[in-house]
Amino acid sequence: MERLLLNILLLVLLTYLIGLSFCQHPGLSSNGDKTPYKKPNFIVILADDVGWGDLGVNWGLRRDTPNLDKMAMEGMSSHQKDCYPEIALPLFENLQIIQQPVNLTSLAAMYTEKAIQFIHYASQSNRPFFLYLALSHMHVPLTVTQPLRKLPYQDPYGANLREMDTMVGKIKDKVDGTAKENTLLWFTGDNGPWSEKCEYAGSVGPYTGMWQKERDGSSAKQTTWEGGHRVPTVAYWVGRIPANVTSPVLLSTLDIFPTLVSLANASLPPRRRFDGIDVSGVLFGQSSKGHKTLFHPNSGAAGKYGEIQALRLDQYKAFYLTGGAKACDGSIGQEENHQPPLIFNLQRDMQEQRPLNVKSAEYRAVLPIISKAFGGILEDIATDNVSMADYSHDPAGTPCCNPQHALCRCQLAYLNTSFEKYR
Ligand SMILES: *[C@@H]1O[C@H](CO)[C@@H](O)[C@H](O)[C@H]1NC(C)=O
Ligand SMILES: *[C@@H]1O[C@H](CO)[C@@H](O)[C@H](O)[C@H]1NC(C)=O
Ligand SMILES: *[C@@H]1O[C@H](CO)[C@@H](O)[C@H](O)[C@H]1NC(C)=O
Ligand SMILES: *[C@@H]1O[C@H](CO)[C@@H](O)[C@H](O)[C@H]1NC(C)=O
Ligand SMILES: *[C@@H]1O[C@H](CO)[C@@H](O)[C@H](O)[C@H]1NC(C)=O
Repeated sequence: MERLLLNILLLVLLTYLIGLSFCQHPGLSSNGDKTPYKKPNFIVILADDVGWGDLGVNWGLRRDTPNLDKMAMEGMSSHQKDCYPEIALPLFENLQIIQQPVNLTSLAAMYTEKAIQFIHYASQSNRPFFLYLALSHMHVPLTVTQPLRKLPYQDPYGANLREMDTMVGKIKDKVDGTAKENTLLWFTGDNGPWSEKCEYAGSVGPYTGMWQKERDGSSAKQTTWEGGHRVPTVAYWVGRIPANVTSPVLLSTLDIFPTLVSLANASLPPRRRFDGIDVSGVLFGQSSKGHKTLFHPNSGAAGKYGEIQALRLDQYKAFYLTGGAKACDGSIGQEENHQPPLIFNLQRDMQEQRPLNVKSAEYRAVLPIISKAFGGILEDIATDNVSMADYSHDPAGTPCCNPQHALCRCQLAYLNTSFEKYR
């Protein structure tokens, strides 16, 4: 994913797609009259820098997510993986900047209000809707909007996590009260926690990336270690998604698009290559077919940005380059090339502590399959002349009210309510 595109999407983007691509037969199937087929609604909530271990349902150390935990018990939780955006200042509603810089103090309330209003009017319209809520939570700066004194301890991260959880709970309540049977609610994160930010970063749970940690540097956000890629996911759809199930299937954030397109009975744009797949069968408990391989590009650690540096194949994970991301203690792991690659068996070693011995039968059996998959993806990238986009160099992709101004502001006031300054 492109960094700038994600910057733009980072705050609120409520997408009103009603009446667009998948609405030829609103409410009814093409044969009209009695068939009670109704196109589904979709709500995707993307949290920023949330840790796999932040959700109580995943990792019992935190107790700050009662609403998400409940949603997991009424739906399905899973593990997904992806890359990361950096911080953004403007607040968008659809294609319009409605605040810049954003007022962090009122942001959570605004997310909630706008989302609930949207669900309300959209479900009254009796047409299918799509709501994409790209949260600033849990990215620094962490703003305290709920008074901390209500908590027994000073924990800005926990307070923010609770704030996000409450927001998700309110959105779910609204869905339950309006369009419950026909709405898929999909909560996930973009990447793991930004451990460089120390106590303002979330938890990787057991995915500690020990091999890297023993050599300094971060093994979370920006890196291809599990802590950087594995994100919590909860999918909820009453009557469709089985309740209280944790899926071990390997999914990717890239699957959201093909899955929603399929559920909307629409088709993917032609002549494009998609790395994501339709995983609706997995969500509905009818299939256990996810990804066999996933490719992990560099997102700000050692090496060239965007280059594939690690890959996942079933339970195996291979690294060609490690190091280069800053840890909480300020250390940056030394850049190391690995030829042949380091290979971990995540089934036995979720901490990624001990790579397989290159002389072992296991290593020798899996290396050729990994090398072939790696060669395959490189060739796919090299020969794909239609699926490329680099919004970081596209002036049309730059959000601004006044491009002449260094900070490109749309309003004057700036509140210093954050715990962390922007980088
Ligand atoms: C799905 O789309 C196909 C063609 O695109 C159409 O024939 C079919 O009726 C649609 N199904 C529903 C349930 O709307
Ligand atoms: C930001 O939001 C807070 C809380 O709603 C409000 O008190 C404050 O006036 C807002 N600041 C600006 C600059 O609008
Ligand atoms: C959910 O499943 C867990 C174990 O799989 C069980 O302990 C728990 O009671 C279940 N909760 C509900 C609400 O069904
Ligand atoms: C991409 O490559 C194919 C095959 O070489 C070619 O037919 C097509 O015109 C190319 N498309 C673009 C947009 O360059
Ligand atoms: C906010 O903090 C910055 C940097 O510390 C300072 O320059 C600015 O004047 C402060 N703004 C307000 C409104 O206090």
